[in-house]
Amino acid sequence: MNLSFLPHLNAGFNFLGTICVCVAYLAIRSSNLKVHKIFMASAIGFSTLFLAGYLWFHFQVGVVRFGGDGIARTIYFWILTTHTILATVIPFAVAVQVWASFKKLAWHRRWGHLIAYMWLYVSVTGIIIYLFLRPYLP
Ligand code: HEM
Repeated sequence: MNLSFLPHLNAGFNFLGTICVCVAYLAIRSSNLKVHKIFMASAIGFSTLFLAGYLWFHFQVGVVRFGGDGIARTIYFWILTTHTILATVIPFAVAVQVWASFKKLAWHRRWGHLIAYMWLYVSVTGIIIYLFLRPYLP
């Protein structure tokens, strides 16, 4: 099966997830709990679709290497490293956030802002990495 469409679809899921986290965050800043819940749930849905597509593509195709050099290469690897470190933490942090919201724990309020910013960093840098890799995709 030709999977060349998949990175573009994944980037689309990632983009929609990013928009949902922004809307959910702005909603709770204006005390709109209903919109916060709906958009956080949607962000989790889009991120799950992204992760499934990402894993499927990389299991089938392997690693896609960045072919640029000079300052572009330095910037790319700096973004990739910080992105990867945070991306391994975020799924667990978000799962704990959801659990804490159902248990009505103070944790949700205390750590929600930091986790939302970290999640946004991971999603936005995910889109930037996709743009860097676009010319080298199979
Ligand atoms: C779908 C799952 C979620 C539900 C049901 C939910 C529910 C809630 C509720 C009930 C509040 C009000 C808390 C309170 O008054 O004590 C709240 C606030 C908040 N939530 Fe969520 N939430 C969810 C996911 C998330 C996630 C994943 C994040 C972060 C990535 C997050 C970040 C926040 C923030 C920053 C606040 C505001 C805290 C403040 O008032 O300073 N939420 N959420």
